[in-house]
Amino acid sequence: MKVYILMGSPRKSGNTAALLKPFLEELASHGDEYQVVWLYDKKIAPCVACRVCQADWSQFGCQFDDDAQEIFDKIMACDTLVLATPIYSWYCTPPMKAILDRLVYGMNKYYGDKIGPALWAGKRVALITTCGYRPEKGADLFQTGIERYCKHSHLQFIGALSERHLGYQHTFMDDEKEAHARAFARNMIFLEKEL
Ligand SMILES: Cc1cc2nc3c(=O)[nH]c(=O)nc-3n(C[C@H](O)[C@H](O)[C@H](O)COP(=O)(O)O)c2cc1C
Repeated sequence: MKVYILMGSPRKSGNTAALLKPFLEELASHGDEYQVVWLYDKKIAPCVACRVCQADWSQFGCQFDDDAQEIFDKIMACDTLVLATPIYSWYCTPPMKAILDRLVYGMNKYYGDKIGPALWAGKRVALITTCGYRPEKGADLFQTGIERYCKHSHLQFIGALSERHLGYQHTFMDDEKEAHARAFARNMIFLEKEL
């Protein structure tokens, strides 16, 4: 299984990175290939709804010459896409929102004169989030948004891992969170074999 991880945290040693670490270790221990892209290190302009991407159904076709093309190519080559992000104002962080918007148009050729294909149809999507509220009050809106995004894009939503950050005076990671992250990775591997 090839897993491509879009990492939306600005903090390289932050909570989302700490939760991702055992998840990635588990993937590696099962021989799964993965790559992480730190979105805050990339140049990703916001979508301006010009719809240039709708003219050619064989490619991304965005007018902007930035790092979104490379991300598009990596997604096309992966089996499973993981969106890892801290929750900011009940949704994802700004670079992740920017790439989600660029992809929902560039990948889904629904918005031109005729309705075309979803170029990434069938790929699996999983979420890894960290948030200050309990996950059911902190990460729920983003998860719902992504579930709808997946349905709209003919992607398979395969699940979410969300863990709570009790505050900067508390250590975020503990054995329970690590076990959850490892189990989430094993479940993804199991699903890959089943589907
Ligand atoms: C600007 C900002 C906005 C946030 N908004 C929310 C929020 O809406 N809901 C929530 O539960 N937590 C919120 N949080 C808390 C973070 O999601 C939480 O601390 C997270 O674990 C940070 O992850 P990181 O260390 O990877 O950056 C916010 C944090 C910041 C900095």
